[in-house]
Amino acid sequence: MKTNSLALAVVSSLIGPCKAALRFGCSSLSVQRLDPVVQPGMMPSSHVHQIVGGNAFNATMNSAVELPAKLATCTTCFFAEDFSNYWTAVMYFKHRNGTYHRVPQYANAMLEGSTQGMTIYYTQQDFNSNGNQKITAFKPGFRMTVGSPTATNTATGLRYVCLQNSLTRFPELPEWPKQPCRGGIMTVHHFPACWDGKNLDSPDHQSHMYATTRDAFAPAGPCPASHPVRMPQVAYETLWNTTMFNDKSMWPEDGSQPFVWSFGGSATGAGTHADYLFGWKDDTLQRAMDSSCMFDACGQSVLKTQTPAQMNACKLKSTVNENVDGWLTALPGQGMPM
Ligand SMILES: *[C@@H]1O[C@H](CO)[C@@H](O)[C@H](O)[C@H]1NC(C)=O
Ligand SMILES: *[C@@H]1O[C@H](CO)[C@@H](O)[C@H](O)[C@H]1NC(C)=O
Ligand SMILES: *[C@@H]1O[C@H](CO)[C@@H](O)[C@H](O)[C@H]1NC(C)=O
Repeated sequence: MKTNSLALAVVSSLIGPCKAALRFGCSSLSVQRLDPVVQPGMMPSSHVHQIVGGNAFNATMNSAVELPAKLATCTTCFFAEDFSNYWTAVMYFKHRNGTYHRVPQYANAMLEGSTQGMTIYYTQQDFNSNGNQKITAFKPGFRMTVGSPTATNTATGLRYVCLQNSLTRFPELPEWPKQPCRGGIMTVHHFPACWDGKNLDSPDHQSHMYATTRDAFAPAGPCPASHPVRMPQVAYETLWNTTMFNDKSMWPEDGSQPFVWSFGGSATGAGTHADYLFGWKDDTLQRAMDSSCMFDACGQSVLKTQTPAQMNACKLKSTVNENVDGWLTALPGQGMPM
């Protein structure tokens, strides 16, 4: 049965007993063209990202020496010991006159210290249990990606929700909503949660991990022998405020939907791109996963928190000198108008 994951989460946090799950906001750190996982050292990288988390984010972040938990001096996340970086491609609106405008993000519902950026989840088998398995936290240097910008068929690890308001959670769509969405569009990125137990990364940044669930927040099956270690289920929710683009006189005259990812990608929205770079301080994530705290309440027991003002004060200056906002004649880095 499909259940509203947010409602389920709230209920389970009230009734207990349950295993730990984290759900927290991280405000925007930077919007620019850098990607230390897929295109390390490239300044600029090929397309625009929105990035949240620790301020050690940089064009190069080698797993051995440049650990975010050591280098970062602040984080945009609610949990103050989380210096990880979380990033995705950026949503643009394509006007019928051929120009592009970045779609702003807005704050999620039911978050303490809610702020513009992303909502990050670390769950276990599902919201209610860990499936009686030990959940092993990621190791320093760990990174992974989900999805492929060039996918044209079915989006792996990405779902869209046409929002009536910030609490809408269903239906989850495998592609762009076809009509204007009154409350904006939510995208949910789901990472795989089974680890090969050896590699902090892999050449494609994916094969050291294995996904046992393809749908958002569905209970996960058992990990396969090739990837036996159950890690936290990481997911990102991003709420995109499409309000200023909902006037259909701005949409393409052929009736097609006008949103596009910063990498271009297929018209259906099947292509996607999200990155994770672990950066929790010491054993904080493991302690949270071993506890039984839920969501914001983890800040009253196992984890340290910070205020929205402190989250918002952590910023990273763009190292790439280009305009990513306003009406643009082309997507930054994508060359010719598409
Ligand atoms: C990013 O890397 C450059 C070159 O190594 C360095 O000069 C700069 O200080 C780094 N920035 C941050 C925020 O760590
Ligand atoms: C396209 O439309 C936007 C929004 O109305 C406007 O600001 C911009 O100047 C237009 N650009 C062109 C090239 O017509
Ligand atoms: C969404 O954008 C509209 C138009 O720019 C703005 O008036 C509104 O305040 C925004 N909503 C949120 C929740 O930020």
